[in-house]
Amino acid sequence: MKIVDLTDDRKELYFFCLEDWSEEMKEAGDHKRAWYEKMKDQGLGVKLALDDTGEVGGMIQYAPIEHTFVEGQDLHFIYCIWVHGYKKGRGNFQKRGMGKALLKAAESDAKEKGAKGMVAWGISLPFWMRASWFKKQGYTKVDKQGIQVLLWKPFTNDAIPPKWIKKKKPETTPGKVMVTAFVNGWCQAQNIVYERAKRAAAEFGDKVVFQEIDTFERPTLLEWGTSDALFIDNKEVRTGPPPSYKKIRKLIARKVSKL
Ligand SMILES: CC(C)(COP(=O)(O)OP(=O)(O)OC[C@H]1O[C@@H](n2cnc3c(N)ncnc32)[C@H](O)[C@@H]1OP(=O)(O)O)[C@@H](O)C(=O)NCCC(=O)NCCS
Repeated sequence: MKIVDLTDDRKELYFFCLEDWSEEMKEAGDHKRAWYEKMKDQGLGVKLALDDTGEVGGMIQYAPIEHTFVEGQDLHFIYCIWVHGYKKGRGNFQKRGMGKALLKAAESDAKEKGAKGMVAWGISLPFWMRASWFKKQGYTKVDKQGIQVLLWKPFTNDAIPPKWIKKKKPETTPGKVMVTAFVNGWCQAQNIVYERAKRAAAEFGDKVVFQEIDTFERPTLLEWGTSDALFIDNKEVRTGPPPSYKKIRKLIARKVSKL
């Protein structure tokens, strides 16, 4: 097994989170590519894990924290680490050491680039990216917002702990249902949610106002404290894993029926 940097010939696979077999991924639009094109000159690191036959089994993406959705300085932040775990497509590569090797390679790269520490996030519940996995890899909890846990591994004594940015909810509009979708681009699952919400909202004509909040620019992130989210009026919809188009449509329909 070896860890390599992303190269042009593997970009499409990376944009699809290694799930090039997935029909769902085709719903994600072009947000990831657009995000990558902007982030590649802002210090974004992408590494892939290859097995002994050269097949890609895992990926990690990270960047200087100042360009991400977390408050901090002189640190690098891991957006996500993913070792393909489905039987479908390329198959299950988990529990063969790829995750550990990817994390180690990203940490070394961040250190070389002068970072004072590495930051990661996970969920306190046993699904999606578990915070406990990073704890096992030597990370300590530094902040929490709901079920989202922020963890870090400082490399130097003068590293300053990172923090979540405080979240703000969107306003409601009298006589309308507001569907607010925050979209950043880095996460394909959340790009899917955005595209589904936009399509579903359009079905209800002028009873529903669809509001897109593009969170790529830092001032927008600092204002809202969220990179990706879906709100129907001021109620947040759980988006991990992505709700189906039908479910989102149903949630909007329920609100419309109460107008
Ligand atoms: C967490 C993850 C990155 C680990 O990668 P991996 O290649 O399977 O892990 P490794 O083989 O390197 O194992 C590293 C350690 O984690 C442990 N581990 C692996 N999967 C685990 C799991 N599901 N639960 C608990 N521990 C786990 C291993 O036992 C090993 O422990 P050790 O350090 O005591 O030996 C991988 O399982 C994954 O991608 N999971 C899904 C995460 C996810 O949802 N990411 C967001 C996608 S957008």
